[in-house]
Amino acid sequence: MEKRQELYTGKAKSVYTTDDPDLLVLHFRDDASAFDGKKKESLARKGKVNNIFNAFIMQRLEEAGIPTHFEKQLSDTESLVKKMEMIPVECVVRNIAAGGLVKRLGVEEGISLNPPTFELFLKNDEKGDPMINESLAETFGWATPEQLAEMKSLTFKVNHILKQLFAEGDMLLVDYKLEFGVFKGDVILGDEFSPDGCRLWDAHTREKLDKDRFRQGLGGVIEAYEEVARRIGIHID
Ligand code: ATP
Ligand code: TYD
Repeated sequence: MEKRQELYTGKAKSVYTTDDPDLLVLHFRDDASAFDGKKKESLARKGKVNNIFNAFIMQRLEEAGIPTHFEKQLSDTESLVKKMEMIPVECVVRNIAAGGLVKRLGVEEGISLNPPTFELFLKNDEKGDPMINESLAETFGWATPEQLAEMKSLTFKVNHILKQLFAEGDMLLVDYKLEFGVFKGDVILGDEFSPDGCRLWDAHTREKLDKDRFRQGLGGVIEAYEEVARRIGIHID
């Protein structure tokens, strides 16, 4: 497999074509961003930590029956993935109230959400990733009703698997965002799962161990990501 030209460079990762038209290389950079790219910083080791973290989670999800784009880890900061047609809709599940939900509805941070909520956001930085719903996604052609049903079902299956995995490391999976795409007609999980796209709290102290440390300027961002990794048995040099 040979890496060819850069296809796209996002806020945290760069995507490269390969000599195989079905495969791409994802390069996890050290760049951190929040608030739709308004806050930006370079954090040493971030690319490596997120690449290794994501590889571990994607493999765990595959083993548990979730179809993903993940093929293999190529180096500290690169992974090989299936080239998908991305569905421009982000799926968010919340087990505990935090972040945007607290701001939007004025509910108290930290309350349990039973049943967990499911929200859709349009992947569009210029418009600040606005919240959408199934009807808008169908009308504007962002996703079909069948794709939306599959994305919802897979997103909740992921919740079941990962809540348990993080609980074993004494952590609460507060909320997370997933992105899906289409590969040879099937809806599969894409992008990444790392502390950049979810909230994780220590189960006892409720200390934040995720990107909120960056958003809120709490410091110790990558140290927290590495702590999460250590607690679920990921070894990072
Ligand atoms: P976001 O706000 O979602 O993080 P971004 O474009 O800045 O947006 P990056 O993670 O920096 O995000 O860039 C990675 C890009 O690659 C994303 O647009 C993502 O949707 C896309 N992508 C991820 N996996 C695949 C894949 N398997 N095939 C094609 N594109 C992919
Ligand atoms: P949310 O609380 O809606 O937004 P914010 O990041 O502004 O607080 O996000 C819920 C979870 O989903 C949170 O863990 C962050 C993640 N997420 C992303 O990583 N990217 C996104 O574009 C969105 C909408 C959510």
